[in-house]
Amino acid sequence: MSQKVAEPPTQPAFVIRPAKRRELEDLIEVYKSGYEGLEEYAERTEEDIRDYLEWLYDGDPNGFLVAEANGELIGFVSVHSDWWDRRYQRRTAEIHELVVRKDWQSKGVGRALMMAALDYARAQGCDYASLWVGEGNWKAREWYRRLGFEEVGKGWSVWVRMVKKLRDEL
Ligand SMILES: CC(C)(COP(=O)(O)OP(=O)(O)OC[C@H]1O[C@@H](n2cnc3c(N)ncnc32)[C@H](O)[C@@H]1OP(=O)(O)O)[C@@H](O)C(=O)NCCC(=O)NCCS
Repeated sequence: MSQKVAEPPTQPAFVIRPAKRRELEDLIEVYKSGYEGLEEYAERTEEDIRDYLEWLYDGDPNGFLVAEANGELIGFVSVHSDWWDRRYQRRTAEIHELVVRKDWQSKGVGRALMMAALDYARAQGCDYASLWVGEGNWKAREWYRRLGFEEVGKGWSVWVRMVKKLRDEL
């Protein structure tokens, strides 16, 4: 008599770890791929993307995390934990960037990157996490809302401000 063996869960395998500065060059393609169709909210030229990634990294190297699968980089998050939000007069972790390569989106990578970034921010003593998201980037806006971010206003041009408390007692 044959016995049915349960299939193993099909969780895609990826790891989240701190980035190395020399890996920034490989992230240019990840950034371009993630922002396909959302170019109005992204840096366009390779030079601008490179400068931007270096600025992100140098602002808080330990807050720059990558997702890696099969030896390839598939996403990253950059948080600057030494930020100050005038609205709350509190130390705030600014999530400056979060991108997942197109073919890896909707597989849990972005969530894992965000959770790791928020853990890092809490460990650094931040009370809030905040970010700017493109007004027409509906997927990301809804996605952030589901992760507990609230829209608290509009900034200059096409940007919406979102904030999340990092401690229950606040
Ligand atoms: C926004 C962004 C970072 C989200 O990352 P992501 O990896 O696609 O997000 P997740 O997979 O964690 O979550 C997204 C969806 O996958 C689902 N999901 C989560 N884990 C999953 C898993 N293991 N398997 C399948 N689906 C899963 C979630 O329920 C969610 O549902 P949805 O399809 O209804 O949205 C990504 O879409 C992206 O790079 N966008 C372009 C750049 C951008 O807009 N960045 C934000 C700038 S402010």
